Amino acid sequence: MRIIRAKDYDDMSRKAAIVLGAQVAAKPDSVLGLATGSSPVGMYKLLIEWCKNGDLDFSNVKSVNLDEYFGLTADNDQSYAYFMYHNLFKGINIDIKNTYLPDGTNPDVANECARYDAVIDSMGGVDIQVLGIGGNGHIGFNEPSDVFKLGTHCVTLDKKTIEANSRFFNSIDEVPTKAYTMGVGSIMKAKKILMVVNGEAKAQAMLDSFFGDITPRVQASILQMHPDCVIVADDAALKLIDEKFPGAVK
Ligand code: GLP
Repeated sequence: MRIIRAKDYDDMSRKAAIVLGAQVAAKPDSVLGLATGSSPVGMYKLLIEWCKNGDLDFSNVKSVNLDEYFGLTADNDQSYAYFMYHNLFKGINIDIKNTYLPDGTNPDVANECARYDAVIDSMGGVDIQVLGIGGNGHIGFNEPSDVFKLGTHCVTLDKKTIEANSRFFNSIDEVPTKAYTMGVGSIMKAKKILMVVNGEAKAQAMLDSFFGDITPRVQASILQMHPDCVIVADDAALKLIDEKFPGAVK
């Protein structure tokens, strides 16, 4: 596990885009595991810019996303399918047929979970998995729990997650209470992890995840066991780590 310090959101986005961009440049048929949320948006903007400049080519890239709200159609502007299209896919030359997300409109949970696990398996391994982190330490929508789940599953969202994500909706009542998410087992199988974290609201989750015990109560803590995990975090997100473990992150 390596934590790379960034000054602020823009610096974090640039450093993370360099890591992801290098992956695509070195392996043009990379399988990217992608994430939503505000954390990766700046990184996605840079990738779009570099693709438009001709520096990056996504035509042979495939992608699988971490999660999707249960019940939302892809054309709902709160769905993660909509988010990915508007924040990345439409700006790069990826073939949209090679981009995959869980289908939030499939009401048959067992069927959808099995279908999405088969999609992930058919990719032959994720080369790099982008992650954000929830204020409660969640990755994807793997909420604090007694266990780490292996495969895709449908979760009931944590109260804190619903509150945090309500900023994107007209009212908190509109936030879906359930979501499909890739399991921690699938996330851990990615060859490389690239986590992007910014802001003081994530400082406690950062401390607990990377300087605390490995526990499913803090799902991101499992990343301490990953052989190639890079975390790009800004000063604000590192605030508590800097206080408790001065010098631990250069
Ligand atoms: C959301 C997503 C996660 C994301 C996290 C942080 O609920 N399911 O994949 O990493 O919360 O979001 P943000 O980057 O907006 O802080």
